[in-house]
Parts: sequence; C-alpha cells; structure tokens
Amino acid sequence: MNILITGSNGQLGNEMRVLSKEYPRHRYCFTDVIEAADTQVLDITDAAAVRAFIEAHGIDLIVNCAAYTNVDKAEEDEATARKINADALGVLGNQGVKVIHVSTDYVFAGDEHVPCRETDPVAPRTAYGRTKYEGEKRLLAACPEAVILRTAWLYSSFGNNFVKTMIKLGREKEQLGVVFDQIGTPTYAADLAWAIFTVIESPVWHPGIYHFTNEGVCSWYDFTIAIHEMAGIESCHVRPILSEEYPYKTPRPHYSVLDKSKFKKTFGVEIPHWMASLERCMGKLNG
Ligand SMILES: NC(=O)c1ccc[n+]([C@@H]2O[C@H](COP(=O)([O-])OP(=O)(O)OC[C@H]3O[C@@H](n4cnc5c(N)ncnc54)[C@H](OP(=O)(O)O)[C@@H]3O)[C@@H](O)[C@H]2O)c1
Repeated sequence: MNILITGSNGQLGNEMRVLSKEYPRHRYCFTDVIEAADTQVLDITDAAAVRAFIEAHGIDLIVNCAAYTNVDKAEEDEATARKINADALGVLGNQGVKVIHVSTDYVFAGDEHVPCRETDPVAPRTAYGRTKYEGEKRLLAACPEAVILRTAWLYSSFGNNFVKTMIKLGREKEQLGVVFDQIGTPTYAADLAWAIFTVIESPVWHPGIYHFTNEGVCSWYDFTIAIHEMAGIESCHVRPILSEEYPYKTPRPHYSVLDKSKFKKTFGVEIPHWMASLERCMGKLNG
C-alpha cells in the first residue's frame, strides 16, 4: 500500500516513522518532517494540495497524525483549531481512500467514574474537544469506512510532553505540586503507532470508532512519581494538589479513562500497562 502519514513531525508522526521500518512492504510518504531535506510539506487544510498529493503519489491510505493540539491556545483561537481539527477531516475523508484518524478523550465531559465506551454520549467542554469531535463527524460523513482511534495523555521521546516537562522540573526544583484529582491513562505514542499498524495489517478492515490507551489508571501525581522514580530523580519532593490549586486556563476532565475492550476484541490483541511502556520510553530518553 502507498501510505500518507500527515503531521509526521509530531509525537505520533515520528513514532509512525520509527515503526514503519518494521513494515517495509508498504511505501510511505511522511510529510512535514523538519529534519529531512527531501520531505514535502502538506497542509491538511489545503484541499487542492491534498488532492494533488494523493494523485501524484497514488495514495491508498491516509494516517492522519496532524492536529491542533494546544488545548489552551485552542480556547483563544477556536477558528484555527476548527480548520485543522474539523474542516481538514472533511478534506481527508473526501479523497476516496482509506483513512485512519486519531481523536481524543476530550470529546467526553470527564465527569464519569467508569471507563468511557465508544457508544457513550460525548459532551466536549473545551474548544479543542469540540473541534476534535466535529472532526470525527466530518470524517465519518465523508468516509463512513474510516477508522478513528480516540486516545489520551500521549507522550513520546519525540516532541514536548508531560514526561519531559516533569523530568526537567524534577531536576530543577526541590518541590513540585502535581494534581491528583484528574484520573486517566498515560499512552506511549509508540504503542499508539503499533495500534495503527495493527489496524493496517488486519486481514479485515474494521471501520468505526475505537478507544486506545495503555492499560491501567493513574493520576498526574502518580504518573509524576513513576517518572521521577524511573529517571532516578530523588532531590524533588512531589506533593499531591487539587485541580483548583493549579492555574489551569482551560478546564481539564476529572476522569477520562477509556474502555479499550472493543479494540482488544476486534483485533485480538493485549495492550501493555502504562508503567511498562513508560519504562520503554525512559530507556529511549536515557539513550
Ligand atoms: N498529545 C496528547 O496528549 C493527545 C491526547 C489525546 C489525543 N491526541 C491526539 O493524538 C494525535 C497526535 O497527537 P500528537 O501529540 O502527536 O500531536 P503533536 O505532537 O502536536 O503533532 C501534531 C502535528 O501536526 C502538525 N500540524 C498542525 N497543523 C497542521 C496542518 N494544517 N497540516 C499539517 N500538519 C499540521 C503539527 O505541526 P506544527 O507543530 O508545525 O504545528 C505537528 O507536527 C492528534 O490527533 C491529537 O489530537 C493527543
């Protein structure tokens, strides 16, 4: 297959590049990679450019790793977030090829106390969540055969993320307050890339929405303790705090654990626990 991977310079896009080497029978087009001089830039909001690219490269499948992911900035500039997270999904879905897209736990309100299923009602409370949900609808309207993976708390050895921030702060500070009343599941972007290849390699194409994160549950506080322990940081005292003690610009979901039963059953796989995956990522970060 000829596979287009959009937004290849992000966390997930980079992990897709790494993992694609294990699937050499496909031909890949990675767009927007900054380091590679020969890489083509492809703005997914530019319908004419997307159409020309698909035709020029004979693309059979689009894996959309591009998104407007800054939750606070989206609040201030919802129009731009909507262009990338929603309108562009109409463009990608209209190309007459298969699409695998990534969405978010932010489509839910985050008020539940049990893991969210794909069929649970959505109620996004942020501009980011709203635009991502609109993107799901735009894509499915244009391409009912699309696969959408909703994920959460993504981190990687590539890009900026919570893991890297906590390592940096842990090395700089003697004390750190981290919220313990927001519960979710950290997800290693390399595992999400593996999930995407699981979909691609499946002998049968199973369209629809799926939830995918690592296994297990924790708070941001627990996550930080684990990060510091694995990074050998002992000099920083991590203190659990309430969300109301932290100056969030945008409300965060209190409980955004996703139920992954559908993905595991459909594709017959097990998913690694978040701690095992964090250890793998730390191994990479430590070189
Ligand atoms: N990060 C999380 O915690 C999280 C949680 C749940 C779901 N997700 C979803 O998971 C997916 C992957 O997230 P990620 O963390 O890998 O995101 P990321 O690191 O922010 O990467 C997104 C990439 O998309 C690119 N991009 C933005 N606008 C574009 C456009 N118009 N055309 C082409 N590329 C564009 C960005 O380039 P620039 O940097 O140059 O703008 C960036 O390289 C996204 O769909 C996101 O919504 C993420």
